[in-house]
Formats: sequence, C-alpha cells, structure tokens
Amino acid sequence: MCGIVGYVGKSKCVPKIISGLESLEYRGYDSAGIAYVTNESIKIKKEQGRIKVLKDSLNMNEESYMGIGHTRWATHGKPCKVNSHPHQVGDITIVHNGIIENYEELKNNLKEYKFKSETDSEVVAALIDKLYHEDKDIIKVLSKLKDYLIGSYALGILVNGDDNIYAIRKDSPLIIGISEDGNFIASDVPAILEYTNMYYLLLNDEFALISKDDVVIYDKNGEISTKSLMTFEGSKEAAMKNGYDHYMLKEIYEQPKVVMETIKEYILDYKHLKERMKGLEKYDAIDIVGCGSAYHVGLVGKSLIMKYGKVPVYVDIASEYRYTEHIYSKKHLIILISQSGETADTLAVLREAKQQGIDTLAIVNVVGSSIAREAHKVLYIKAGPEIAVATTKAYLCQLMMLSLIALYLGINKGTLDKKIINEYDNMDLLLEKELENKKELEDIAKLIYKNKDIFYLGRKIDYSLCMEASLKLKEVSYLHSEAYAAGELKHGTISLIEDKTPVISIITDDDIRLKTLSNVKEVCARGALSIIISNEDVLDKSLYTKLIKIPKVHELIGSALVMVKCQLIAYYVARLNGCDIDKPRNLAKSVTVE
Ligand code: AGP
Repeated sequence: MCGIVGYVGKSKCVPKIISGLESLEYRGYDSAGIAYVTNESIKIKKEQGRIKVLKDSLNMNEESYMGIGHTRWATHGKPCKVNSHPHQVGDITIVHNGIIENYEELKNNLKEYKFKSETDSEVVAALIDKLYHEDKDIIKVLSKLKDYLIGSYALGILVNGDDNIYAIRKDSPLIIGISEDGNFIASDVPAILEYTNMYYLLLNDEFALISKDDVVIYDKNGEISTKSLMTFEGSKEAAMKNGYDHYMLKEIYEQPKVVMETIKEYILDYKHLKERMKGLEKYDAIDIVGCGSAYHVGLVGKSLIMKYGKVPVYVDIASEYRYTEHIYSKKHLIILISQSGETADTLAVLREAKQQGIDTLAIVNVVGSSIAREAHKVLYIKAGPEIAVATTKAYLCQLMMLSLIALYLGINKGTLDKKIINEYDNMDLLLEKELENKKELEDIAKLIYKNKDIFYLGRKIDYSLCMEASLKLKEVSYLHSEAYAAGELKHGTISLIEDKTPVISIITDDDIRLKTLSNVKEVCARGALSIIISNEDVLDKSLYTKLIKIPKVHELIGSALVMVKCQLIAYYVARLNGCDIDKPRNLAKSVTVE
C-alpha cells in the first residue's frame, strides 16, 4: 500500500505535498518521491527511506505550483530509489498505489521502451505515454485505460506541457480535495486536512482532471459526471497525534469516545438496533473472515454470536479461507472484517463470495473503501482515522459491533432480554476507568520487556483475546510472544516454560476459571513469572506476581475491558524497547497486496 498526494493551485506545491505525504506515512514509507513543474518542465526527486530523507533533499521554496508525490510500501521490486515513485516515461509522469497483475504482458508489448525499474508502475507510465502519443488526448487515454490494466491502481498523472493533474482509480482509494487555494489528490483524508476537509471520492473507473481552480470528473465511459462533495467530519486533530507521544497511545485513549460513537450509531434503543441489524436473523450459518487483528476479533465474535445468537459460526483467516472448499447453507452469511477495507485477501474473499451468490456483510472503518462498497451490506464502525499500524481502536469498535450483532440475535432468539441494552450505556465510562490506572501496566512492562518469550494463556473467549494481546505485543515491541490455549500447555509448549518466563493469563469466563487457574499453577511450578488479568480476585497469591483486576460485567462487553489493558502492556513494552511504535518495521497499515 502506498500514499499519493498531488496539488495544483496558487501556493507553492512542494511544502503542501510533503506535509501531505507525512500524514500518509502510515500507508508505506520505505521510499518517497515528488514530481513538480517549474518553467514548463517536470522535475523529479526521489529517495529511499522515510519521507524525511526526501524532504531534506528538497528546496521547499521551489517556484512550482503543481506536483504529485508518493510514499511507498514495496510490492514490485525492492525498496530503493530507482523503484520509488514518481515514474517518468516520455511525456508521462505518474505515482501509483496498487498492483497491476498483467504488467509483464503489457511490458512485452512496449518493447520500444527501456525500463529502469522493476516496477509495474513504470510499465503503466509507458503504456499511458504510448497511448497518449497515439491519441494526443489524455482524456481519451484515461477513458480506455481500464481496458488494458488488470489489477488495482490509483494514479496521479502529470503530462509534459499540460497544467493539469489527472487522476484515475480502480480498487485503490483516491480522493480529490477542494480548497480556495487550490485542489488536491490524495490516497486518504489526513493528507489534506491541514488545507481542507472537503473532497470528492473517486469511484472505480472514474477519472478526473484537476486544475488550480476546477475539477472535472468523468465516469467510466468518459462522460462528465457530477458528484456530491463529501465533508470529513473529524478535525485535523482527529487524524493527527493530538499531543500524545504516539498515534498508538492517542488511539488507545480515543477508544472510550469512538466505541461509544459506534454503539450509538446502532443502538439508541432496541427499535434502532433492529432497524440497523434487520435481516441478520434469517441466516442459519455465518462465516467470519479477516486478517490479523480482524481475524482475532472474529474469534471473539464467534463466541458471543454462537452463545447468544444460537447460530453456527465459522471463523477463518482470509488468506486461508479463499483457497479452501466451503459448504454453504441456503441462508449463509459471510461477515468480512477490515479496518482499511482494502486488505487484498479479505477483498478477494468478498468477491468470490459474491460470485457464488453468498450474502456478504462488511464491518469496516474506512468509509467508501472497496470492501465497504462491494459488500451487500456494510456496518461502519466509527473509529475515525487509525494511523498507528497496530490497530487498537478499530479492533475494539469491531469487537463492539460483533457484540451488538450477538445482542440483536440473542434478543431475537430469546436468549437475551432487551434490558441488556442498558449494559452498553456506560461503555465509555467503563473504558475510561480501565485506562486511568496505567501505572500497573507500566510496572508490568518493566517486569517483562527484556524477556525474549512471553506467553498469553486463556480458554474460550479468553484465548481469543490472548491471540490479539499477543499480536499487539509482537508487532510493536518485536518480542516473541505466543497465545496459547491454556488446556493445551501440557501437550508440548510447557516445555518452553523456564524460570522467570512471563506468562500472562486472561481469566474472565466463570465456566473455566478453575481450569485455567490450575494451568497457572503448572507454569508457576516451573518458575514462570505469572501475571493474571481477571474480573475476580485470585485468593491463592502464589499464583501471580501481578494481578490486574477488571470489573465483572456482562461478557458482551467484558472483552473490551481486558483488551485495553493488553494494548497498554504492549505499548509500554515497545516504548521501553525504543521501538518505532507507530510504524513497526516491515509492516504497513493496510496490506493491499496478497
Ligand atoms: C493490526 O494490528 C495488524 N497490523 C494487522 O494484522 C491488521 O489487523 C490486518 O492487516 C488486517 O487489516 P484490515 O483490518 O485493514 O483488513
């Protein structure tokens, strides 16, 4: 996944483009580049590494009022200067986000061109240049580009001697920002919030001409189309750090607010809940599919929906699900969970499901994203822009969404009384309270941050929470961690427990509390450094070094209270290890490649 920013207007473009790219660094940051127009010629500057490297190489006061920029997460070709964008071929200069699946075939038909990079993007630039020299009309070229390209693309395009920016997209997001001072193209809203919160959302196969005081949008047939202007509700702060040391910490502390906004979006009362969830009761089997944290939250959702909704739920990782045989019932639903709404494997499952005529429901954060738009129905969470690569607030909002689905189905099936709705009323206050006592979590982080192996233990829904807690720790602190079904320990893994091995046990489910405590006893007997997160006291003090107590609430909302503790443990361990918390090595915010 990459970040694209372009600007054309009355101000100098270089500072605007660079600051926009800085807001998009979470989309990819192994190299960056910019193309800007001065005295009718297009100049290009690109560097490997973070955007700062590029910024330091530029004259921010360039006499240039139009340009396009790019921050990259390598897919075709390693992260290096020659593979970074923009790519210039002949009269065409482009920045690209996405993957062109037929680029080799296209390249074979472009023998007259000499390619410098290993990228699919440079092939696109050559193709556009070739078509442009045939047609001498960039609009005509853009109206037929979809006939040549297979795959995903958001393109920002400059044409030699032309004082407009051109943009086109398919399956990769692209917006057009509108302001008094000039107009923008961007992969995502944070890039333009410093200048405007008004934008057009380009849809698949639409393309646009962007000049300093006008925007013309064309539909897939090349006809001029009118679109409604969208306004981003959140302020610039909503997408920036807001005084916290890291986006991740800011987003952890945003959870009370955004979880409550998500709840209120769906459950002012039962009537409102029914309006939003109506139809879900007709399904007799549900598959939940996602990647990473989205998969983990699906596991929690499974426990709640099966228990209260009395409907079989199967959960799988999207990259496995899409290549596995499935037997679908007549009334089957596939729920796709994705924060970005652009994750390639999850999107592929959605498209395959639709091909097979299976109903699809998306639980997504990014409005207008591909998964959101292509699913039969979408339930948006209201987490707002999640900048940190490690998801926290989006995970928690997804958790609450699945809880609300379980609530709706439970009321429908008679396993839950409508008054349970009141349990959600103070969700923000409950979360705020759990986030207040951060010292106990900092103390735990100090106990474990030097360890090389850290285990999370749990059973049933607690085990599902361990999966996410463990991933959080791994991805931001680079420590090895493993989530383990407590009952499985004695079947092998207990051999890894040594003196002072940290073992964090999550125990909130009454049915299996004693069982898990006996597993804790087993690891303590081998010298483990035991930490317990529970909603009950643990009378045998020899079973833990630290006990984190959380309130005993209905299990439809209890998981969220556990997770915020685990998120902070991961954050503080990462901070003690001096990790790049918001942009962990090798990771990108949304994996739009397979
Ligand atoms: C989040 O902490 C992880 N970095 C990652 O597993 C993420 O959840 C996964 O890539 C799915 O992303 P999505 O929700 O945008 O589809």
